[in-house]
Amino acid sequence: MPEADKEGKDFCLDTQVKNNGFFLKGSNSHDWGMKNRLARIFNPKSGRTVMLAIDHGYFQGPTTGLERIDVKILPLAPYADTLMLTRGILRSTVPPEYQKPIVLRASGGPSILKELSDEQLAVSMEDAIRLNVCAMAVQVFIGGEYETRTIENMTRLVDMGTRYGIPTLAVTAVGKDMKRDARYFRLACRMCAELGAHYVKTYYIPKDFETVTASCPVPIVMAGGKKLPEKDALKMSYNAVQEGASGVDMGRNIFQSKAPIAMIQAVAGVVHDNLKPKEAYEMYKDLKSKECKGDCKCGGKKKPAKKTAGKKKK
Ligand code: R5P
Repeated sequence: MPEADKEGKDFCLDTQVKNNGFFLKGSNSHDWGMKNRLARIFNPKSGRTVMLAIDHGYFQGPTTGLERIDVKILPLAPYADTLMLTRGILRSTVPPEYQKPIVLRASGGPSILKELSDEQLAVSMEDAIRLNVCAMAVQVFIGGEYETRTIENMTRLVDMGTRYGIPTLAVTAVGKDMKRDARYFRLACRMCAELGAHYVKTYYIPKDFETVTASCPVPIVMAGGKKLPEKDALKMSYNAVQEGASGVDMGRNIFQSKAPIAMIQAVAGVVHDNLKPKEAYEMYKDLKSKECKGDCKCGGKKKPAKKTAGKKKK
């Protein structure tokens, strides 16, 4: 037994105990574990996150850029704040030494060949805990054929996750024929938040996006959507965070970029450092000129070959 230490005397009686509110919108009433997980996903300094979404294979198979996650995505992972992916890819491909928080895709079922809203929960709470994830993501199809089922998937996940301090990210999926306007997204995001989602992922729209973020009482992260020119994707990210988004959950606009490592860093500049689109694009171009072209096995670390134009080989 170690000797008993002397009782302390320095009680700092002139210093009041701080009773800080939690930094994240609408999240102050959660329990410690839930807040701690959210504080790993969202950077407490900026209040925002850059999530790298690579879960597309759960209904689309090996799409462009995700054919080989080990080769093309793992080099990007250190630059993301969070990885969003399926348990299959997590177990098979991501080294357990990876320290960043994981957001687990928790719904699925139909492929692109079928009705996409026909989803069910696709992972148990027990497995999510076993995988040490920081949040679970579920698709919600407001206005879709299986709207009610997908809402029920979400509310069940919220119930199960809340029991263990694991947040639920509701992903608002928009059917092909639906109008992507502020009215639709206000409805979809608000419903997810009212029914318990801890944060919501939704698309950016150029008109009135700030009314979508303002009317949603929990954080919103912007989904990237189809690949755009890098300049436009950076502008969209800038507009989204300036209009109230707490970051991005972006896939194709990063991993389908000509220079993905440069792109994710430029997006992070916009999200965390409020870089203007022009500044971020300059940063992208500068980093792109230094980035490995992906045709070797250096994991993105290789310096570009020195220009030898005009020099004769001896
Ligand atoms: C799709 O349903 C998945 O949740 C993706 O994670 C999501 O679409 C984000 O990826 P992207 O930025 O490529 O749209």
